[in-house]
Amino acid sequence: MVKKFLVVAALGMVQTVFAQKQDADMNRFVDQLMKKMTLEEKIGQLNLLTPGGGVATGAVVSKDVEQKIKEGKVGGLFGVVGQDKVRKAQELALKSSRLGIPLLMGSDVIHGHKTTFPIPLALSCSWDTAMIKKLARTAAKEAAADGLNWVFSPMVDIARDPRWGRVAEGSGEDPFLGSLIAAAMVQGYQGDDLAKEDAVLSCVKHFALYGASEAGRDYNTVDMSRLRMYQDYLPPYRAAVNAGAASVMSSFNEIDGVPASANKWLLTDLLRKEWGFKGFVVSDYTSVNEMIAHGMGDLQTVSALSLKAGLDMDMVGEGFLTTLKKSLQEGKITMQVIDAACRRILEAKYKLGLFTSPYRNTSEARTAAEIMTATTRRQAREAATRSFVLLKNNAQTLPLQKNRSIALVGPLADNKRNMLGTWSVSGDWKQSVSILEGLKAAMGSNATIHYAKGADISSDSFEVARSNALGVEIEKDSRKPDELIAEAVAAAAKSDIVVAVVGEAADMSGEASSRSYIGIPESQQALLRALKKTGKPLVIVVLNGRPLTLEWEAANADALLDIWFGGTETGNAVADVLLGDYNPSGKLSMTFPKNVGQIPVYYSHKNTGRPFNKEAFAKFKSNYLDVENEPLFPFGYGLSYTSFQYSDLTLSSTTLRKGEKITATITVTNSGNYDGEETVQLYTRDMVGSVTRPVKELKAFQKIFLKKGESKTVSFVITPDDLKFYNANLQWVHEPGEFMVMVGTDSQNVKEKKFELK
Ligand code: BGC
Repeated sequence: MVKKFLVVAALGMVQTVFAQKQDADMNRFVDQLMKKMTLEEKIGQLNLLTPGGGVATGAVVSKDVEQKIKEGKVGGLFGVVGQDKVRKAQELALKSSRLGIPLLMGSDVIHGHKTTFPIPLALSCSWDTAMIKKLARTAAKEAAADGLNWVFSPMVDIARDPRWGRVAEGSGEDPFLGSLIAAAMVQGYQGDDLAKEDAVLSCVKHFALYGASEAGRDYNTVDMSRLRMYQDYLPPYRAAVNAGAASVMSSFNEIDGVPASANKWLLTDLLRKEWGFKGFVVSDYTSVNEMIAHGMGDLQTVSALSLKAGLDMDMVGEGFLTTLKKSLQEGKITMQVIDAACRRILEAKYKLGLFTSPYRNTSEARTAAEIMTATTRRQAREAATRSFVLLKNNAQTLPLQKNRSIALVGPLADNKRNMLGTWSVSGDWKQSVSILEGLKAAMGSNATIHYAKGADISSDSFEVARSNALGVEIEKDSRKPDELIAEAVAAAAKSDIVVAVVGEAADMSGEASSRSYIGIPESQQALLRALKKTGKPLVIVVLNGRPLTLEWEAANADALLDIWFGGTETGNAVADVLLGDYNPSGKLSMTFPKNVGQIPVYYSHKNTGRPFNKEAFAKFKSNYLDVENEPLFPFGYGLSYTSFQYSDLTLSSTTLRKGEKITATITVTNSGNYDGEETVQLYTRDMVGSVTRPVKELKAFQKIFLKKGESKTVSFVITPDDLKFYNANLQWVHEPGEFMVMVGTDSQNVKEKKFELK
């Protein structure tokens, strides 16, 4: 034991000495390089451009990029698609600029690179952090094989307003789950050594609080208490920083009245001083310039403000490039802040090994061998099956029996174009598998599938025009709506069961895709109503980038399966689940409201002084006249083809003292007819605090696999540290008193026990 300890300690010391030596080498290298650099070249390193040509991710693209690279006025590029083009850009910087400093080559690798995985919100419903880490690893390998060295991910903004389209890009509403996923993604992208040729820098975004924009409208104002920031919104960013994230992207919104990109408290006091972040901070797309519209001053003023606040790199806007020299001459900024920012960019390049291996061994052969392989497709298929959430399954409607005839209807049933979801900037939708294709492949010659489109995704011309801004995702059929519906009803009439595939087009969620009505578009609802009238069993499969209001669908479908946007392998994964080859296990990471008026609705709300009464309406309580407080589907919810019984919740003790722990144990039994996986969730409630505490907070979960008929005992260790929270002075403390521990299958359906923290 002692020997083992000594070995571990010695190893730790060797590692520290090695890291110190590496840092010293890096510092020496950067010192020498910076001595050779002119002021203009230093400012050039702070400039991030996008030449256009790929999928647009902002309203403007950079001009004269080649010339600027040659003049040493560019620190990095993003949105350059393809290994050959990336190489050319890098070559230009190396051979044609005075000092030959290599470029950072970034990209929005949000849910996979070429092989597109399910959207992040979907992946978070797997609650499978090991898988998510593996997928980030794969995405990093593909991106690196394509010449990239920097990904703008993970997006870790806590989001509780499904009107905001960007909920699709994050991990939902909960800081605990969100933090675990944030760390897993950073580790996956960066691997254990950034210098390895398959590692990329990760970029945590959008720092900070972007998910709380008012009314769910993108780029809108954010205003919240420090207590809420610290308790609910900041933890995932911090978890990503602790996991070693090399860069951070500042958000578009303001915080305490100051836009994030020039918020010194945020970028310096909190991020660097309090959290110890050592990497560099990049602005979001023209977010520095946008401070002019925020009303913070002209371009020179906002650029100087940003740099002084701790922003190192300016994305697309060129405010740094065009004004910092003047600000320096006028004494508005110092040389030290320019040097500090330049140093951080050069350090990142050094850590990536770009100065010794600028191309990182990329080649056409490597691209061909490592991108979109049978293995990456297999991963995509597995990830999709694990992210689907079964919301309803009456009388075991699902899985489908393979020998029955199926009416497969709906505008998303045979639609490759919309399978990848938002932010698949490098994914090729033509390589995705449609649901019709997936079912046919799985059912082979047994298949009797009657397909009909049934409706357009939307026929609201206002909505269609806006949703199609990035390309035509919502096509208008030449047939009239009634004809489309009649064809679908005819398909239903000759089939045993109807599977309707409905929902949003891919870019009805994502950036600048806020919606004030979050139901399934009316054209498709009309189709669903007609199908319901046929009296055939109705399975509704929903594609969506956000929680939708599905009251009618939940009431009228026999089975309801949420598949989000499943990525390249969607069709095959849907077949796996519908036909029972994979038993669904996803659990919601974000609450589904009954209607838009309930928003924001989330499980970890406060009790208020007048809590509503679940059993009966009472006047003068915190509730609505026209809808219950409960959501349609709560956080943590998701069914399986089998059923799980929870019994015998016990605590090892009813008191918990400092330095000690207690164990909560529960028995879970698979009482249904299929083997299956369950996510056992543990929540706590702090009954009395010096500040008000939420009615429930997720503190732990375990995924367990149970064969049919099998029981398992699941144990969770609870320590006083798990019960800490931020008090009114923003200190991270636990306070003695009574706690409730709750264990169950979702955030509402739990067994409870109490204990006391002494
Ligand atoms: C988005 C970022 C993205 C950037 C670059 C911005 O509009 O907010 O998430 O990384 O564009 O494409």
